[in-house]
Amino acid sequence: MLKGIQADSRIFIVDDDEAHCLLIEETLRHVGYTHFNVIADSREAVTAFQEFGPDVVLLDLGIPGPDGLEILRQLGLCIPPDTYLPIVVMTADQSQSARQLALSLGASDFITKPFDRTEVVLRVGAVLRTRFLHREIEAHAQVEILHRLALAAEYRDDSTGRHTHRVGELAALLSLSLNLSEQEVERIRVAAPLHDIGKIAMPDRILLKPGRLTTEEYELIKTHAAIGGLMLSGSRFPILHLAEKIAMYHHERWDGTGYRGLESEAIPIEARIVSIADTFDVLVHVRPYKQAWPVCDALSEIRLQGGRQFDPHLVKAFIELLRSEGLKLLSEAVEHPRLPGLGKHSAQRDELPLRAPKFGRAGEPLIRQITP
Ligand SMILES: [Fe+2]
Ligand SMILES: [Fe+2]
Repeated sequence: MLKGIQADSRIFIVDDDEAHCLLIEETLRHVGYTHFNVIADSREAVTAFQEFGPDVVLLDLGIPGPDGLEILRQLGLCIPPDTYLPIVVMTADQSQSARQLALSLGASDFITKPFDRTEVVLRVGAVLRTRFLHREIEAHAQVEILHRLALAAEYRDDSTGRHTHRVGELAALLSLSLNLSEQEVERIRVAAPLHDIGKIAMPDRILLKPGRLTTEEYELIKTHAAIGGLMLSGSRFPILHLAEKIAMYHHERWDGTGYRGLESEAIPIEARIVSIADTFDVLVHVRPYKQAWPVCDALSEIRLQGGRQFDPHLVKAFIELLRSEGLKLLSEAVEHPRLPGLGKHSAQRDELPLRAPKFGRAGEPLIRQITP
C-alpha cells in the first residue's frame, strides 16, 4: 500500500469511456491512491486540469474533439518549463508513428488499451516517483541558491557573513514557539536570510559609513527593502514569494510608521517575525556604526518596542523563548565579534550608546537609529 507523498498524488483522467475510467480509478484506488478528477468531455480538459493541479495526467488519445493530440498540445502550453508533470497516454494505436507524435507533443509514457491492471499501477507509480524526485532535487537547488544569494548580501555589511544565518535560525526558533507548522518554520529559516538582499544595490560609502547617515543617505538606504522585494519577485517558486514578502516588509512597524506604512496584522507575519530576529541580532553585535549591546539591554529594548516597532504578541513569545529555552539555544545569536579598532565610545553613525537609554524615549523609532 502507498504511503506519504505518493499516496496523496492527484490523478487526472481524461477519457470519454466511462467504464474505462471507472476501471482505472478502481485499479489505482486499490493500491492506495485517493485523489482523482475524471473528465469525459475533452472540451473541459484544460480548464479542469488548471483547477485540479494534478501530479499525473492519464489521457485517452482517441477521445473525440478536441482529440488527445490536441489536448496534449494544449496541456504542454500550461505546464511551466523545467517542471516534470507526467502525461501518460492511453491508446490502442501501437504504431510507431502514433507514439512518436505523442512523445513529440509531451507524452511521458504509454498505456496500451485494453489495459493490464499491473501495467497501469507500475507505469503510474514510476512516473510519479520521477515527478517527486524531480521536485526534491529542485527544492534542494532552490535552498542552495537562496543560501548563496544570502551570503552575497551578507558580505556587503557584515564582515563575518554570519548575520543572515543567525537571523534565519532565530526567526525559525521564534516561528516554532508560535506553533507554526514544521514546513512553515523551515520555509522561514531558508527565506529569512534574504531579508537584506537589496543591500547589494547600496553603495559602500553608505553601507560601511561609520558615522551618522545624512537624511539623503538614510532615504537611499531605506530603498533596500523595496529593491530586495523586486529582486525576488516574479518567481514561480513559493519559497521565493516568501523571501520577497520578508525582504519587502521587514522594516514595517506595528504602529504603521515603517518604510511603507503597513501596520499591525497587515504586515505579513513572517516579516514581523524576521523584524524582531533581525533587530535583536543587530543590537547584540558590532556594526560599523555601533557597539554590541549586552543581551539584557537588547531584550529590554525589544520589550519596550512591543506595540510600537514590533507585534506585541511576538515580543512576548520572543522573550518567553529566551527565558524558557535559555541563551544556549541562541549562542549563535549572542556571539559578540568585535571589529578591530572600534573603541567603546568611538564615533558612531547615530551616537548609539553601549546601553539603551536613548532608545527608551517614548515613540523614538529604533528604525531611525539602526538599519538592520
Ligand atoms: Fe533591512
Ligand atoms: Fe539584517
